[in-house]
Amino acid sequence: MNNYEAQIKKVKEERGVEFDIDPIFLLRRSSRAMDPNVPVTDRQFMTIVEAMRQAPSSSNKQPWSILFAKRETDNWPLFFDALYKGNQVWVKNGWIIGAFVSEKYDTGKLTTDTYSFDNGLATMSFLLESSRQGLVAHPMAGYDEEALRKNIDLPPTHQVDAMFVLGVPGEVELLEERFRALETSVSERKKIGDILTEGKFKGEAFSSAFES
Ligand SMILES: Cc1cc2nc3c(=O)[nH]c(=O)nc-3n(C[C@H](O)[C@H](O)[C@H](O)COP(=O)(O)O)c2cc1C
Repeated sequence: MNNYEAQIKKVKEERGVEFDIDPIFLLRRSSRAMDPNVPVTDRQFMTIVEAMRQAPSSSNKQPWSILFAKRETDNWPLFFDALYKGNQVWVKNGWIIGAFVSEKYDTGKLTTDTYSFDNGLATMSFLLESSRQGLVAHPMAGYDEEALRKNIDLPPTHQVDAMFVLGVPGEVELLEERFRALETSVSERKKIGDILTEGKFKGEAFSSAFES
């Protein structure tokens, strides 16, 4: 068994994965250890944005956009300063920082407003493609929304759904002590039976029909 296979086997065991899914779903992680000296290339970033661009959306409105800044540029503080301190301490080693923004279009109540949901789908494509390239891509809700909106001149027609940092994996020792164990700890998941219900809402999920 090579390293790659061993890694997949480990995650499967840790998370109790019962059904065979593509490894891309298992290898993506919200890691924090990044090397501040190795760049994410423009080509890598554009490839990630390309994956995002191909995501599905209600009526194909594609309401998402990304606002970003590169490390050591004047734009970096616009995003970095809006982050909560608990994120800043490790995001400082990232290469690209930014915001997943959606346009709050009005459907006229013909259908549900799904701009935020659409942006979430596109965000997952962003994360998976980043992971496929061996990069760290970490979504974040830990930021001051008002401060960020002000910093980036965001009009009321748009909303920030989450921020992100993108970087090249680095040594765990680069992290503060309190974050080191998290880097390799088990990222647990609910059981299938906890999220799947056949028929009406029952107050608790029930999925005995699907036991492996
Ligand atoms: C919308 C969203 C916001 C998040 N915000 C933060 C954050 O502010 N800081 C942080 O360290 N992790 C954040 N995370 C990462 C989650 O903690 C992480 O996805 C979760 O623990 C599952 O771990 P995994 O992504 O490694 O599988 C966020 C994730 C999502 C999807």
